[in-house]
Amino acid sequence: MPDAYILGIESSCDETAAAVVRLGEQLISNIVASQITTHQPYGGVVPELASREHLRAIVPVVRQALAAAGQTLNSVDAIAVTQGPGLAGALLVGISYAKALAFALDKPLIAVNHLEGHIHAVLLEERQKDNHELQFPVLALVVSGGHTHLYLAAQKNNGWTYENIGHTRDDAAGEAFDKVAKLLGLGYPGGPIVDRLAPHGDPRAVKFLPAQIKHRDRRNHRRQEERETDRPRFDFSYSGVKTAVLRYVEIHDMRRSIEIRRAALANVSKPKLEDYLANCDQKTLDLVASFQHAIVEDLVGKTLAAARAYDVVTLFVTGGVAANNELRRTFERDGAQEGLPVYFPSRRLSTDNAAMIAAAAYPKFLAKDFAPMDFSAEASLRLR
Ligand code: KG4
Ligand code: ZN
Repeated sequence: MPDAYILGIESSCDETAAAVVRLGEQLISNIVASQITTHQPYGGVVPELASREHLRAIVPVVRQALAAAGQTLNSVDAIAVTQGPGLAGALLVGISYAKALAFALDKPLIAVNHLEGHIHAVLLEERQKDNHELQFPVLALVVSGGHTHLYLAAQKNNGWTYENIGHTRDDAAGEAFDKVAKLLGLGYPGGPIVDRLAPHGDPRAVKFLPAQIKHRDRRNHRRQEERETDRPRFDFSYSGVKTAVLRYVEIHDMRRSIEIRRAALANVSKPKLEDYLANCDQKTLDLVASFQHAIVEDLVGKTLAAARAYDVVTLFVTGGVAANNELRRTFERDGAQEGLPVYFPSRRLSTDNAAMIAAAAYPKFLAKDFAPMDFSAEASLRLR
C-alpha cells in the first residue's frame, strides 16, 4: 500500500477548512476557520456572505494546514475537495481552488460527498485509536444542520457503498435546533447553546406529542421509495416540533421576554453560559430542555428501530448534532441495552471539517477514482 498524504478542502457551508490526513487514518493537521461571527447578526447562514468569507479564508487556511502538517503543496499526494451537498457558491470556492492546485501541481484531484465525509470522520478516528475491529454492517446516522439521514454503509472491494434507508421529510434536526434558538432569542448557531442550557431545565416540563414529530405521509400510505425497493424506511420530521415551540411561546405570552433577551444578548460580544442563564427564566429553560429531549428521543428511537429492522451490528452517529451531550448519552445508554456499540467522532470532527474529506478520499485514491477537471459543485448531491 503506497504511503499517501491527502490534502482535504471543505467549504460547503459556513466553515472554511483544510486538513492533511495520512493513509486515511492518521490526522496530521486540521484547520477550521468558522464564519459564525459573520452570520450571527442574521441568525443563520447568508449564502452570499459565506462565499465571500470562503474566498477570503481559503488560501491562508490551506497554507496553515500544510504548515501544521510539515507538508508542502508539492509533497502531498492528492487533493480532495467536497463536491456537495451544500451551498453552490460556497462549494465552488473550494472546488475552484482545489482544481487550480491539482492542475498546477499535476496532482490527482478527488471529489468527495460531504455526507460520506461525516461517516469517514468516525472511521478515521477509530483507526487512529487502533480500533480495527469494527463489525459490519454499519448503520450511520448523519445528523447536522442540513441532514438527518440514515445510511447502511458497507465496504466493497476497496470502496464503500451506501444505502439510504431514511431521511428528514422537512427540517433537519440541527436546523430545528437553530430555528428554535433563534425563535427564543438565543442566537446562532442554536445547537451548542441549547446543549449547554438544557441541563438547567426540566426535560419533562413540556410535552411534545408524538404526532408533532411524525411525518404526515407515513400515516396514510407507504412512501414511493419504500414501494420501489420494498425495504422499510425510517424517516424523520422536525418542523412540527418547531411549530409546537412557537405555539407554546404564544400561549404562554413569552414574546416580550424573548425580545428583551435578544436585545440583551446582542450587546454581549461572545456570550458565555452565565450570560444566557442570566437572561433566561425557568419557563424558557424548561422549554429548551423539553425541546432537546423530544428531538433526542425521536432520533435515538428511530435509529435503533432501523438498526433492529436491518440487523446491523454497529452504529455510527456523526454530523454537527452528534456533538450534543444528551444525544451521545442516550445513544450510549440505549445502544448498550441492545448490545449495539455506538461510535461518534470527537466533538471537533463532528462538525464540519476537512479531515473527514481527506479520510473519505483515501479509498478513492487507492482505486484511482479521480475527478475530471470539469466536474462541478452539486448542491443536492446524493450519497449512494
Ligand atoms: O455538520 P455541521 O457542522 O454542518 C452541516 O453540515 O450542517 O452541523 C451544524 C449543525 C448546526 O445546526 C448546529 O446547530 C448543530 O449542528 N450543532 C449542534 C451542536 N453543535 C452543533 N446541535 C446540537 N448540539 C450541539 N452540541
Ligand atoms: Zn456537515
